[in-house]
Amino acid sequence: MKKIRFERAGLDVSNMCLGTMMMGTQIDEKTSMAELDLFVDMGGTFIDTSNNYAHWMPGATGDESEVLIGKWLKEKGGRDKIVLASKVGYDRHGEHQGLKASQIEYWCDESLRKLNTDYLDLYYAHVDDFNTPLEETMEAFDKLVKKGKVKALGVSNYYTWRICEAKHIAKANGFTDFTVNQPQYSFLYTKAGRDSSTPLNLNVSEERLDYLKANNMPMVTYSCLASGGYDDEKRLPDKYVKDGRWDLLQDTAKELGLAPSSLVLAWLMNSDKLPERPTIVPLVASSRLEHLKKNLEMSEYELDVELMKKLCYTKF
Ligand SMILES: NC(=O)c1ccc[n+]([C@@H]2O[C@H](COP(=O)([O-])OP(=O)(O)OC[C@H]3O[C@@H](n4cnc5c(N)ncnc54)[C@H](OP(=O)(O)O)[C@@H]3O)[C@@H](O)[C@H]2O)c1
Repeated sequence: MKKIRFERAGLDVSNMCLGTMMMGTQIDEKTSMAELDLFVDMGGTFIDTSNNYAHWMPGATGDESEVLIGKWLKEKGGRDKIVLASKVGYDRHGEHQGLKASQIEYWCDESLRKLNTDYLDLYYAHVDDFNTPLEETMEAFDKLVKKGKVKALGVSNYYTWRICEAKHIAKANGFTDFTVNQPQYSFLYTKAGRDSSTPLNLNVSEERLDYLKANNMPMVTYSCLASGGYDDEKRLPDKYVKDGRWDLLQDTAKELGLAPSSLVLAWLMNSDKLPERPTIVPLVASSRLEHLKKNLEMSEYELDVELMKKLCYTKF
């Protein structure tokens, strides 16, 4: 699998990241372990989890994904070969949401304990906390870096202007900055404003892409396969706009002899062929080993610049 460098974060990662949100809950332990093994056997190094996955599943605590990865790491070893990312700040059973210094400190220690490790390669602010001064949040994250508990910082569900504010606060105070962004992004756009209570369902606009490029921030994109909806239309969530981009994707995939989902992954990973676009790493997640394998096989698939332009900029 292709390796790329996140320059500002100082991390070398595989160009696909394994999403583990449903591991240990919807995906049983045996299959989850087999997926982690397959990912590493195929050259994957970059693994994504969170302190709250998947608390919303029946009977779940929210510790399942991290605990399972911790068990796998203990059994398999090789921690130093893995770039391990986790997150803090999002809801667990209607509480614990927020990015106060005490929350960041507590949940980082909890993640390290569950993951059987003494450091995280990448630690994301999972969702913005407007009730805590951004200065307090940035200082608390910075302390984790200075203590060696965390190597680099990322930011997930934030508005662009808040990422920019965080940058200026970090610069003014000598704190570590966020250097990786994890928004929701896929080939089809989502209906703007569908859920305005959080930035979760906001489109990644051209403005966000510009911002990331200008700040040399790679984007790790979640829900990029639209819940499996590209290959099976019945699975496409209602929030997506099914305009001419749908036909463009389906027709191009057919011409290339690829599944539409495979083309979406290739399109994301070829993003920086266009000089104005940031580096993009897709998060891949599946409950089926054969799907995961098919996704990972796209790691080195090349799309030429003209096709990238067509896929990015055709107007409908
Ligand atoms: N930062 C955040 O707020 C946030 C939010 C959500 C998720 N995430 C991260 O992103 C990861 C992925 O999120 P997601 O589940 O929302 O992603 P997604 O890409 O929208 O959906 C994954 C779905 O795609 C299907 N799929 C995968 N490969 C396929 C293939 N080759 N052919 C057909 N269908 C395929 C899977 O179905 P099958 O199981 O049937 O294969 C799975 O249900 C999570 O595990 C988590 O790490 C982060």
